[in-house]
Amino acid sequence: MRTDSPQTIYRKDYTPPSFLVDSVELGFDLDPARTVVASRIHMRHNPASTSRSIELHGEHIELVQVRLNGKLLKPSQYKLTAGMLTIPKAPDDVLLEIETVLAPQDNTSLSGLYVSNHNFFTQCEAEGFRRITFFPDRPDVMARYTVMLRADKDKYPVLLSNGNLIEEGDLGDGRHYAKWEDPFKKPSYLFALVAARLVCQEEHYRLKSGREVLLQVWVEEGNLDKTDYAMQSLKNSIRWDEERFGLELDLDRFMIVAVGDFNMGAMENKGLNIFNTKYVLANSRVATDVDYAGIEAVVGHEYFHNWTGNRVTCRDWFQLSLKEGLTVFRDQEFSADMIGTDTGRAVTRIDQVRTLRQAQFPEDAGPMAHPVRPDSFVEINNFYTVTIYEKGAEVVRMYQTLVGRDGFRKGMDLYFARHDGQAVQCDDFRAAMADANGRDFSQFERWYSQAGTPVVTASTRYDAASQTFELTLAQSCPATPGQPKKLPFHIPVTVGLLAADGRDLPLHVDGVASNGATSVVLELTEASQTFRFTQVGEVPVPSLLRDFSAPVVLEYDYTDAQLLHLFRHDSDPVNRWEAGQRLAMERLLKLTGAVAAGEPLVLDETFIAAQRALLADDTLDPAFRELALILPSETIIAERMAQVDPQAIHAARQFMRTTIAAALKPELLAQYHANQTPGEYSPDALSAGKRALKNLALSYLLIAPGAAELDLARLQFDNAGNMTDRAAALAALIHSGSQPHAQAALTSFYADFENEALVVDKWFAMQAAAPTTDVQAVRQLMAHPAFTLKNPNRARSLIFNFTNGNPSQFHAVDGSGYAFWAEQVIALDALNPQVAARLARSMDRWRRYVPALQSHMRDALEQVAGQASLSNDVMEVVSKALAN
Ligand code: TRP
Ligand code: ZN
Repeated sequence: MRTDSPQTIYRKDYTPPSFLVDSVELGFDLDPARTVVASRIHMRHNPASTSRSIELHGEHIELVQVRLNGKLLKPSQYKLTAGMLTIPKAPDDVLLEIETVLAPQDNTSLSGLYVSNHNFFTQCEAEGFRRITFFPDRPDVMARYTVMLRADKDKYPVLLSNGNLIEEGDLGDGRHYAKWEDPFKKPSYLFALVAARLVCQEEHYRLKSGREVLLQVWVEEGNLDKTDYAMQSLKNSIRWDEERFGLELDLDRFMIVAVGDFNMGAMENKGLNIFNTKYVLANSRVATDVDYAGIEAVVGHEYFHNWTGNRVTCRDWFQLSLKEGLTVFRDQEFSADMIGTDTGRAVTRIDQVRTLRQAQFPEDAGPMAHPVRPDSFVEINNFYTVTIYEKGAEVVRMYQTLVGRDGFRKGMDLYFARHDGQAVQCDDFRAAMADANGRDFSQFERWYSQAGTPVVTASTRYDAASQTFELTLAQSCPATPGQPKKLPFHIPVTVGLLAADGRDLPLHVDGVASNGATSVVLELTEASQTFRFTQVGEVPVPSLLRDFSAPVVLEYDYTDAQLLHLFRHDSDPVNRWEAGQRLAMERLLKLTGAVAAGEPLVLDETFIAAQRALLADDTLDPAFRELALILPSETIIAERMAQVDPQAIHAARQFMRTTIAAALKPELLAQYHANQTPGEYSPDALSAGKRALKNLALSYLLIAPGAAELDLARLQFDNAGNMTDRAAALAALIHSGSQPHAQAALTSFYADFENEALVVDKWFAMQAAAPTTDVQAVRQLMAHPAFTLKNPNRARSLIFNFTNGNPSQFHAVDGSGYAFWAEQVIALDALNPQVAARLARSMDRWRRYVPALQSHMRDALEQVAGQASLSNDVMEVVSKALAN
């Protein structure tokens, strides 16, 4: 057991920095074993601070010397504690010259300066800069940077940093140098350098204003044939931000660099974005449609940060969602606009809803629940969460729902007019949206301060005599850690009413400007409110929370008939999909109960008929049909149960899939053939949608396969012209339960792709998530020569996909999955605490499980918590899980 308790940091304790930094010059002598960093920091006292002490963060680095205004400081003139160098009683104007030494090759945390495949990279968000040199490493200290890099020329021919290259040359001794200058002031978390053997695809690109910029995508030599899509996505992002938000690239040069060892998706360092290879490298041979979509979204995301994050940044890390929620919203809108069609847009929206339910709602209901703007944390790295990102994006989206697209643009314009070059708070964004639109968003603040997923309960009353329809909406929000009571939220609820013929009724709502429109945004602000629709000539079926207008759980006592009506006719595709999910969920919950009680399982013909009709409805986008046919995941079903029995859920869902597969076999086969995409591969949304529907059909056909179905999958596997189809066929074979077929395909797949790290990740991931893979099999896979815990992508592919993607095996009744989890958390923690803490989160919901599993889970959690040396990262997660 760790005896010290880690420190909690509170938002209310914020104090302004004592000294501001005008400019900093950094010199690097790069060597994997011993890198020397020299800094010259030009500082001045901050009149807003009463303190005269200079506080410089520093961790895992050795201080060689420090000079203040030219004078070498004696150890008695400063204080060096774990994490902080303090210089008391400093004068108004200060030049600090500091020399530090570090060993990048020993840095397995991938935070700060580290080595990956013999190359140097940095990752400074959130607090990695302090692992490079002593500095006020907080986002409200913004400075101008000049960087001199020196390194061996053969080993590191490419030397990059933020901004513009102003000088480069030889040093004579086999070493060379490059000097970079960033014209914009920035917080330290946006600093980056790369010293590496890399090659690039580059292009001169003309902005709308006529200015020409240089775009580069840097990768390892063998990967130059996988950079086209990232480059195309970058150009699309630049164009989109000009058109939708009037925001132009402010640099003459913009670089993306891919690295194989990376903790997250990518990083928006000013002018030098560093990316996980997963979000850069793609060609049809190695990348799936989902990979292509991920690249477009992440390239967009990091590029959009240049304004929302970099030009306007966060005052402190409690404001993280200010940049992340907003930038996720922007990348979501970008991806939707790139598809361009209404159903395409809806498909992206449905995907967002699925992510929220799969990951954010559980987080909001568990021990790590926190508001979009948290009040405290132990380790900031644990707060790069689905709540900050995805719920944060929902909060931003609600402004747009409330004020419209044009109003939202006005709010953005005002935000930049007021805050360009500043480090600000979520409240400043809210104020800009309110002021630009003449709206009162004071109650809206609760979306930032209150955790938990609100529940909106709807009830209705139709009065034929007066032709009125009353909709009562009541809201509540469950208690979350530290927040027992919640106040009402300001919730936009978009509503439509369907007639018996399936058409939308024109809407007239008392006190709401609706003018006969077919959808209206109702604003729920009280605990309970009744809205009166008039001129309603028949009993309507209400379509509530259209386009998922707020991140809430909506409860309404729909009858099966009403849901089937919505599933067939709703003009809002998101709610059409939602009706199908409700129909499926009701049945899945009943079936799960039946499994647990040992009762016979049955699936009604009505449901099957609805699925049949949808599958064959060629007027509908294939991508939409695919989404509407996928059943709610085991995780989403589990969230709906008071006591979770993962085996029963798995059996119930399997029964439903098997029954659908058997009943719809001819239709599935017909769709399989109708949605082929012959010819050259293209990742466009229509082709990707066809492949998705076709491959869903294939997976159903392979549930209880005969020889013909196995042949079909084998044929697709052998002849696939792209990775989407090849991987789907392999997955179908793995899930078919036919071991010989699965093994043969796995072996040939590995042989074909063993030199493609990202494909080897898929090979591990698919096996990890197969319900036939038990803990023992995972352990065997860990012994495979290609497996390593040190590479986060590889660790995630096998271990996380098992703990998070294979519930029936992870939750094995003997607790062996949990013992395995504890072992891996502990092993990972010694290497990379950020990644270990993410794995630790797999046990968040342990109190929801059946008692037999709970006790095994508690044992495993206590085993981790009892370790003598545990990072703050893992400590925070497991101690919150165990707390009452
Ligand atoms: N700001 C990054 C983003 O675009 C997140 C990120 C990248 C990050 N690497 C990180 C956060 C390492 C914490 C630690 O979302
Ligand atoms: Zn981001």
